[in-house]
Amino acid sequence: VAVTVLGSGAALFMAYSDAEIAKTDGADYTRPLAIPPLLMPTAEADGTKRFRLEMRTGRTELLPGEKTDTWGINGSHLGPTLRAKRGDKVAVDVTNALPETTTLHWHGMHLPPEMDGGPHQTVQPGKTWSPSWEIDQPASTLWYHPHLDGRTEKHVYRGLAGMWLLDDEESERLTLPQRYGVDDIPLILQDKRMNDDGELQGPPILTGKVLAGGPVGLVGDKIFVNGTYQPMFAATTTKVRMRVLNGSNGRTYHLGFADGRRFDLIGVDNGLLEKPAPRTRLPVSPGERVEIVVDVKPEDSVVLRSFPFDLGTPFPGNRIAGGDDTLDLLRIAAGDRLEPSPAVPARLAGSSLPDPPAGARTRTMHLAGQSYINNKTMNMSRVDEVLTAGTTEIWNVTTDEMPHSLHLHGTAITVMDVDGRPPQPWDSGPKDTVFLRPGGRTRIAVHAPKHASERFPYMFHCHVLFHEDRGMMGQFLAVRPGREEQVSRDLKDAH
Ligand code: C2O
Ligand code: CU
Repeated sequence: VAVTVLGSGAALFMAYSDAEIAKTDGADYTRPLAIPPLLMPTAEADGTKRFRLEMRTGRTELLPGEKTDTWGINGSHLGPTLRAKRGDKVAVDVTNALPETTTLHWHGMHLPPEMDGGPHQTVQPGKTWSPSWEIDQPASTLWYHPHLDGRTEKHVYRGLAGMWLLDDEESERLTLPQRYGVDDIPLILQDKRMNDDGELQGPPILTGKVLAGGPVGLVGDKIFVNGTYQPMFAATTTKVRMRVLNGSNGRTYHLGFADGRRFDLIGVDNGLLEKPAPRTRLPVSPGERVEIVVDVKPEDSVVLRSFPFDLGTPFPGNRIAGGDDTLDLLRIAAGDRLEPSPAVPARLAGSSLPDPPAGARTRTMHLAGQSYINNKTMNMSRVDEVLTAGTTEIWNVTTDEMPHSLHLHGTAITVMDVDGRPPQPWDSGPKDTVFLRPGGRTRIAVHAPKHASERFPYMFHCHVLFHEDRGMMGQFLAVRPGREEQVSRDLKDAH
């Protein structure tokens, strides 16, 4: 087993030996993994692909033999997978059939701010919201979920989340597994807690009580993958690509296989890496995505697991982020005849994101407690930052004693360094959400969205949903070059 020790002083991720790894064959992991259906769009006269999503209440058998009240999109729990290609014009009719107001946000999508589905684009019960835009970004694994101010944790936890896969010319030519549900499978990881009657406990906002998890909100003791409890995936090919989304409220996972086998990290949040990075362990914090390719041999039965890890702090940050748990996630079971898959290509994607220019604008962000960015909590009527559309700037991000997961809307970001050291593979490439360890110092290059607006802001926030709902969020405008000072002055006067 490869040993990964990072960081000077306190090790960020602890070393493991074979002896520490519990051996299970995941024998009780027998339920077929649910694969969210691919949603077919209708084609309009001008070529626009129109998708239809309806958010509803329902009852779902999450645990065997028990029904649970859940929310879902076009179904009772979770939502279908949308797929589009660079250059496509897309539109989505988002209907709210829930008993309360919500929103639907396209996490990782580069689009005009009024189409973003953030807290300003509310959809009242019984109403339909129809954003449209052109896909103009590289192949990636994005997702969608509600983003109502103060209610995101509740709505996502109830089951409102789905994936949105993007392709481009380059990605379609790669010899990567890309048959959806066959050798290219989405894995939406979510943890939950249930009462004896099968109903969901928490998050705190549902019940008015803090039930579990404390500082990062609810940390569940049951893990669901695509809504399936103790799932099994029947592999039919010698390589399987997994697009993993951490759709949990606050839990951070540390992925690896029970037998220590290596896998290739091929992509992160906002796109593919330039080349595959071999790994045995991989952290994924709330809101982040990773794409991996793993080898499967005939008669394999191997468990994808979350291993304990050390957040590198004396604060009980590990417990609160779920990082000291060993959790089996999914068993991959191979038939004895596997269709051979081609080797993972040595080059995956070109790098398109620019380095910050000399003299780039620099900002400082300090995330503190459960609610503060630079000592402020979210205010829907306050714009916190004014960026220049289409430019690259530098954000110096620091944290206090808690782990956070910083996400910016509408664009990609690049991690420049973490505590002064070059980023690890999972922090390389095009990101939109970055894990921030307690007490850490992370420099990111922010590639400001190219869609300028002086009216509609984008959000930046912690993706630990409990923190987000408690106000750990700010708003930024991306304005046309030359307009920054005037817009900033006007905002000050208005306040
Ligand atoms: Cu995944 Cu602001 O959200
Ligand atoms: Cu946070």
